[in-house]
This record gives sequence, C-alpha cells and structure tokens, in this order.
Amino acid sequence: MLNIAIFASGGGSNAEAIIRYLKDHANLSVKLIVSNRKNAGVLDRAANHGIQTLLINRDGFYEKKDLTPRLAEHKIDLIVLAGFLWLIPKYLIKDFPNRVINIHPALLPKYGGKGMYGHHVHQAVFNNKEKESGLTVHYVNEHYDEGNIILQARCPLTPTDQPEDIARKVLSLEHQVYPVAVEMVGRFMKDGLI
Ligand code: GAR
Repeated sequence: MLNIAIFASGGGSNAEAIIRYLKDHANLSVKLIVSNRKNAGVLDRAANHGIQTLLINRDGFYEKKDLTPRLAEHKIDLIVLAGFLWLIPKYLIKDFPNRVINIHPALLPKYGGKGMYGHHVHQAVFNNKEKESGLTVHYVNEHYDEGNIILQARCPLTPTDQPEDIARKVLSLEHQVYPVAVEMVGRFMKDGLI
C-alpha cells in the first residue's frame, strides 16, 4: 500500500474528491491531511472521513524542519498538494524526490508563480481574454509552479465568462482530473516507472 498525505490550506474540495475516489483503493490510501490553517475546511472534511490530521506552523516547517520525521511516522510515500499555499522547503523536496505533486488552476507556464493562486489566477485569465483555461498537475520543486508537468487538462471559455465562471469551470475539471492523476502517479510509483 502507498500512503498519501494531502497538504491543503483551504476548503479542501480537491482533497475531498481524492479521498472519495481512493476510498477502498487496492494500492493507495489517504493517510494524513496536513494543513497550515487551524480553521481550514479541509480539517472538517478529514474528520468526516476519519482521516488523521496534522497542523503545522512556520517555525516547524521552515526552521526546525520537523515535518519529515512526522511524515515518516505515518509511513507517507507521496505528498499531494491541493490548494496548499506555502512554498515547499528544499529539505522536503530532497526527502521526497519526485514524490511531491501539485495542482495549479491554469495552463502553466502561464499564470503561475508567487501570488498566483485561487481567484488571482482566474482574474488574470479573464483580464487577458483567454479563450481557454484549465489545470496543470506537476511535480514540485523549490520554485512556485515550475516543476516538471505531469499532465494538463483544458476547458473552453466564452466571451461572457466572468472570473467566477472560470473558477467554477476549472474547479469542476480539477475534481474530475486530480484524483485520476494521483492514482496514475501512484500506479507508476508502484510499478517502479517513476
Ligand atoms: C484549487 O483550485 C487549486 O488548484 C488552487 O487552490 C484551489 C483549492 O481549492 N491551488 C492554487 O492556486 C495553487 N497555486 P480546494 O481547497 O477547494 O481544493
């Protein structure tokens, strides 16, 4: 069994989609939800599914670097970021080589980088009158949104789509695609392909 930790800072609708999709999966298990916000909705979702949670703070995450042993206690093999807004520190990437993946709500390399998250992304896509948007699942390196791309999925936009409409379209696509992408990465890990 490969154990997954989902890191999330917010509502956690993607985390929920992944948890539901992988429930009773033969090879993959969502073992832990990690959050940096004590009021994050994702923590309630974890509780509803009986999944353990870990609340982290900046000092432990960036200075004491105490997350690796805590993840080891849960035998975590793969870290899945789902709306996690802190930059992943170097030591964690080194300890989990090609084992940290993220979803970004746009077609990278456009609309990525520091400060480009959530509604900021969709507003920028709207401002540029893009005809399509979508999502990118990628490996995480020490820079925001710059790791190698695993897959992208796109959705058409109409001239009347407002930023909220774009957000809704992309989020719905995320719920459809991210769980399957996580499963694919898990399968390739198990088969020793990545
Ligand atoms: C998702 O749209 C995700 O792609 C985005 O935050 C949202 C989290 O929603 N992530 C980023 O913008 C990272 N740069 P959720 O909490 O409902 O899953």
